[in-house]
Amino acid sequence: SIENIAAREILDSRGNPTVEVEVLLDDGVLSRAAVPSGASTGAFEALELRDGDDTRYGGKGVQNAVDNINERVVDELVGIDASEQRLIDQVLLDLDGTADKGVLGANAILGVSLAVAKAAAASAGLPLFRYLGGPNAHLLPVPMLNILNGGAHADSNVDIQEFMIAPVGAPTFREALRWGTETYHALKSVLKERGLGTGLGDEGGFAPNLDTNAAALDFITEAIQKAGYTPGRDIVLALDVAATEFYSDGSYQFEGEKKSAADMVAYYGELISTYPIVSIEDPLAEDDWAGWEAMTDELGGRIQIVGDDLFVTNPKRIRKGIDTNAANALLVKVNQIGSLTETLDAVELAHRNGMRCMMSHRSGETEDTTIADLAVAVGCGQIKTGAPARSERVAKYNQLLRIEEELEDAARYAGAAAFPKYKG
Ligand code: PGA
Ligand code: ZN
Repeated sequence: SIENIAAREILDSRGNPTVEVEVLLDDGVLSRAAVPSGASTGAFEALELRDGDDTRYGGKGVQNAVDNINERVVDELVGIDASEQRLIDQVLLDLDGTADKGVLGANAILGVSLAVAKAAAASAGLPLFRYLGGPNAHLLPVPMLNILNGGAHADSNVDIQEFMIAPVGAPTFREALRWGTETYHALKSVLKERGLGTGLGDEGGFAPNLDTNAAALDFITEAIQKAGYTPGRDIVLALDVAATEFYSDGSYQFEGEKKSAADMVAYYGELISTYPIVSIEDPLAEDDWAGWEAMTDELGGRIQIVGDDLFVTNPKRIRKGIDTNAANALLVKVNQIGSLTETLDAVELAHRNGMRCMMSHRSGETEDTTIADLAVAVGCGQIKTGAPARSERVAKYNQLLRIEEELEDAARYAGAAAFPKYKG
């Protein structure tokens, strides 16, 4: 059972404070989890509690969330068996008592929730993916490597936030990571040859200024070929538009022009006819339900349409999306909803209703690798955790290498079956 819980303020990959939690069990097991943080945060996400004290970290300190754990949560959870995850998460939700977790802070609740799971796994002598996923956890996800960053994750003029490559043709996760990483390096030389910037954005992808968003897809296609792979067969493409970021007063400010939802859907239709794109995330804004329905109606038969800011990993919003056919896939971010139990509920709801799921990091990350295990535990077949560069991104991919090795012959790489078939 839980003997003690202790939290502290640490730094994330952008140099902003975040919450780290340690859980000590009475059998001597000590486990630790750290909480990520977004930049293009959805308006409907659970509340990330920040101190707002301008004398520390520009108001971004998380000392109050830390105090909430050390002074309030500990007393409620000491003595409970760490394997009682659902019960423990319910105690946390009840103690907070609000829909957005604004009293304790979703960052406080999630840190405890994840650290408890890790402690329970260690106490049972099981790797986290096995503890959470049971005997059937064996599917290694396709790494969606974000190799060109724009939007809120870069200072460039590129509107689309993430340009990802998915090495679906590889036989194993290890090979997929190699193919993707070789392409990442090839992209650097493609950009260099043209005198474009090769500085990195928040998620480790290159962040050059470009004439159009499609130019990014041209350079990436060239990089795939330069690395010796075939676009559309070995490696396919995916986007996270993060359209909420350039939406205001009912229209989209894209490539210097004012566009309607219909204009955007038509644009995406052209893109997927030109490039081997299998997945588009947040093509429309988080409030534009009608736009999402039109998008899924027109393009949902050809590609995966992923709700991130639209769903915020919240079963209520996912339910609405299912009922209105607003998207056909769910982006899964543990800190959007703020507890492990609710995250697992969100994935189950999506899967039961025929939606694919993509496990995801945040643009602000730490060395914590929980989402790698979680992706294998739920068998979702897709994970996005940035470029194959910068240790807070690579830590998750490296953990998946370890999991694949541990599974030996039982490991299966999700590959092309993780996505709708690209027809070209
Ligand atoms: P965020 O970006 O972590 O800054 O919200 C990631 C995403 O939009 O998927
Ligand atoms: Zn997103």
